[in-house]
Amino acid sequence: MSSQTHKWVRAAALADVPADGRARGVRLEGLDVALIQWNRTFYALENQCPHLGFPLTEGQLHEGVLICGWHGWRIRLDDGGCLGKTAAARTYPCEARGPDLWVEVPVIP
Ligand code: FES
Repeated sequence: MSSQTHKWVRAAALADVPADGRARGVRLEGLDVALIQWNRTFYALENQCPHLGFPLTEGQLHEGVLICGWHGWRIRLDDGGCLGKTAAARTYPCEARGPDLWVEVPVIP
């Protein structure tokens, strides 16, 4: 039986997450994560579209909604919900600490 815990990890320098909404992909504790800055707020989502797994870092941000580059699903940054769908992208808590962005990711022991 396994139990899942969480851990805060430094994900990137704030300066390396573009302010124009372009996603930055990072690998954290074995997870591919898309870091996005929009309207002076940072977001961290699993870098995988909940439809068929296309990387969210290949999507386009429009008015705070991430549009997947493959079939155009529209994904909210705050909760990963997909507009008009029941699926959702996984999101992770993140916060700025000094010059860096930290993300809380699950760790499976
Ligand atoms: S893989 Fe993203 S919309 Fe289909």
